[in-house]
Amino acid sequence: MNSDNRQVGIIGGGRMGSGIAHAFLIAGTDVVLVEVDAVAATAAEARVSRYLERSTTIEQSHLGRTGRLVTVTSVMGVAECGLVVEAAPEEFGLKRRLLAEAERVCPRDAILTTNTSSISVDALTESLTCPERFAGLHFFNPVPVSELVEIVVGSRTAPWVVGYLQSTVARIGKQTIVVRDSPGFASSRLGVALALEAMLMVEEGIASPADIDRAMTLGYRHSTGPLATSDLVGLDVRLGIAEYLASTLGSRFQPPKILKQLVVEGRLGRKSGRGFFEWE
Ligand SMILES: NC(=O)c1ccc[n+]([C@@H]2O[C@H](COP(=O)([O-])OP(=O)(O)OC[C@H]3O[C@@H](n4cnc5c(N)ncnc54)[C@H](O)[C@@H]3O)[C@@H](O)[C@H]2O)c1
Repeated sequence: MNSDNRQVGIIGGGRMGSGIAHAFLIAGTDVVLVEVDAVAATAAEARVSRYLERSTTIEQSHLGRTGRLVTVTSVMGVAECGLVVEAAPEEFGLKRRLLAEAERVCPRDAILTTNTSSISVDALTESLTCPERFAGLHFFNPVPVSELVEIVVGSRTAPWVVGYLQSTVARIGKQTIVVRDSPGFASSRLGVALALEAMLMVEEGIASPADIDRAMTLGYRHSTGPLATSDLVGLDVRLGIAEYLASTLGSRFQPPKILKQLVVEGRLGRKSGRGFFEWE
């Protein structure tokens, strides 16, 4: 069985990987962060440092020692890790290759996970020799302020691995839900279903985007409405997920015309300054 005090390996130090590194570091765990080259490794290190600077001293003193961060440019760097979190770009072939490489070098009892937001965990296990020690570990963006981690259980993931991941996530101060491997897991499937309905309501002229969002923030106490959330995620990203869910779960996830139109116009949400709302 895996022990808790070994370093954690994170493959990919972008937006998610650097946030995940920060979460483990402030919980006192040493982290090895693998990036594609030296320039990307330096950028990842700077991102993690910014997160660490923003963590309050109170948060850090409560948690005791901050872990040590090492950045490397080869998957060989995870050779002594008890847990590996793959957070590379959302490309099936790349993830498969990186996971297979990590499995070859890491200890025999190490647990491998992926932060994929849409790829099937079972499909990714095809490149692994020990699929029972592999699961999805889906963090949310931005990691430092998000409380949830979705554990995605593949058809061959061992039950003790799920238990290990639940206690590991609790140790970094976040909460878990456990979901069977299926398109969109729980979070994207539910979030996209609500967002697509809200978009259809805009398209049908039922109410303004602001009022549709207020129906959920004031009426149902959601912290952000479905249209503002879509703008924050990126409408192109939302469109991609909706198309994937429509192809796997059925036409109820067919993206509305208004979503396709906004993406064609380059109105992608916050990152382009305009989506359903105007952003500074
Ligand atoms: N951004 C989100 O909102 C979000 C939320 C949940 C899950 N995810 C998932 O997390 C994963 C990463 O997303 P992100 O937003 O952090 O992407 P990102 O593009 O910000 O980061 C990916 C990082 O991986 C690095 N990388 C590329 N090839 C590599 C290689 N061969 N070895 C090591 N590192 C490599 C890149 O240099 C980059 O820094 C994706 O699977 C994504 O679907 C993203």
